[in-house]
Amino acid sequence: MFGILKVSDLLSTLQLDLGERSYPIYIGKGLIQDARLFARHIRSGQVLVVSNETVAPLYMEKLLRSLSGFQVERVVLPDGEKYKNLDVLNRIFDQLLSKRFDRSCTLIALGGGVIGDMTGFAAACYQRGVDFIQLPTTLLSQVDSSVGGKTGVNHPLGKNMIGAFYQPNAVIIDIDTLNTLPARELSAGLAEVIKHGIIKDAAYFSWLETHIRELRHLDPEALAHAIEGSCVIKSRVVSADEKEAGQRALLNYGHTFGHAIETGMGYGVWLHGEAVGAGMCMAARMSRFMGWLSDEEESRIVALVAAAGLPVSPPAELSPSRFMELMAVDKKVMSGQLRLVLLKGIGKALITNEFDQESLSRVLASYNS
Ligand code: NAD
Ligand code: GLY
Repeated sequence: MFGILKVSDLLSTLQLDLGERSYPIYIGKGLIQDARLFARHIRSGQVLVVSNETVAPLYMEKLLRSLSGFQVERVVLPDGEKYKNLDVLNRIFDQLLSKRFDRSCTLIALGGGVIGDMTGFAAACYQRGVDFIQLPTTLLSQVDSSVGGKTGVNHPLGKNMIGAFYQPNAVIIDIDTLNTLPARELSAGLAEVIKHGIIKDAAYFSWLETHIRELRHLDPEALAHAIEGSCVIKSRVVSADEKEAGQRALLNYGHTFGHAIETGMGYGVWLHGEAVGAGMCMAARMSRFMGWLSDEEESRIVALVAAAGLPVSPPAELSPSRFMELMAVDKKVMSGQLRLVLLKGIGKALITNEFDQESLSRVLASYNS
C-alpha cells in the first residue's frame, strides 16, 4: 500500500474579527507548500513576493512552487531594520509598476516583521490599496507584527513614523520556518508571547511557565499552542480597538522602558524583544512599588523572562537620569504626560498616568545599587 504523503498540516484557523475586513490566521506545519491555501486568497493572476536576502534563499523556491499557476514576480530587499525606509520601499513600487501590476494584484510578505511591515505599507499605498498576505517567518512576526494591520517604515527622526493601519487578507503561519531562526531571535519573539500572558491571561502565563523549555527547543506542539494563544489574545485586542484609541495600547506593556533601552544603547545593539524583556521586568517592579503587584508575581515574571533567554534588567551603562530623559521622548508621552502600562496582577494590565514619580525613580535606582 502507498501512504498519502502529507506536505502540510493545518493545525488551527483563527479569525480576526473586523467586520468586512475580517481575515483568517492559519497556523500549521509546512503551510508554505499548501498551494490551495494561497489560491483561496489570491484574486487575480498577478502576485508579487517580497522577501529579504536572508529569508529568500531559505524559502522563496518552496513558496514559488505553491504559486505555480500565477504570474509571480519577486523583490528581494537587503536584510535589516536600517533598510526599513522609504528609499528601499520604493523598490517594491518600481517592480509593481515596471511589471504593470494592476489593482487586483496580491503582495505576499515572506519574512520577519521588517518585511511584513514594509510589504503591508506598500500594499496600502499601491494604487490606493491592493490585497496582501502575511507569511511571517520569525516568532515575533508570527505572534505579533503580522496580526493587527500596523504597517510602515522608519524615518530618520523616528521609528515606524510613516505608516498606515492596513489589514492583510490572510496570515499564514508555517511554524516549520522557525527551524532556521537563530536562537537569539527566537527568544526575542518569546518576549511578546510572555507579554500577552502578562497583560491578558493568567492561565496562559502559567502554561508558558511550564512549557518554556519545550518552546526554546522548538517542540512543534508547544509552539503551535503558544502561537495560537498569542494570536487569540492579540486578535481580541485589535478587534476591540483597531486604531489604538484605547485598549490596544496595553500591547505596549514593557515597551516604554524597552524603547529607552533600544534608543539609549543604539538601535540593533539589543534586539527589540530583549529590550522588551528587561522592560517588562521593570514595569513589574514599578507595579510592585505602587502596591499593585505582589513580590511573588514580580518574581514569576522575572523568572519566566529569564527562562526565555532574555535580559531581566536594563544595561548598567544607562544611568537613572539618562533613562528618564530617554523615556520622556517616548511617543507615548501625550500632552506632556508619560503613560505607562502597569499591572494590578498577572493578566490584569492597565494604561495609566496615575503613578507617583517616586516609584519610577526608585525602580530606576534599584538597578543601579
Ligand atoms: P526581522 O524582520 O528583522 O527578522 C529578524 C532576523 O531574522 C532578520 O535578520 C531576518 O532576515 C531573519 N529571519 C527571518 N525569518 C527567518 C527564518 N525563518 N530563518 C532564519 N532567519 C530568519 O525582525 P522581527 O523581530 O521579525 O521584526 C521586527 C520588526 O517588526 C521591527 O521593524 C518592528 O518595528 C516590527 N514590529 C511591528 C509590529 C506591528 O504590529 N506591525 C509589532 C512588533 C514589531
Ligand atoms: N505591537 C503593538 C500593536 O500591534 O499594537
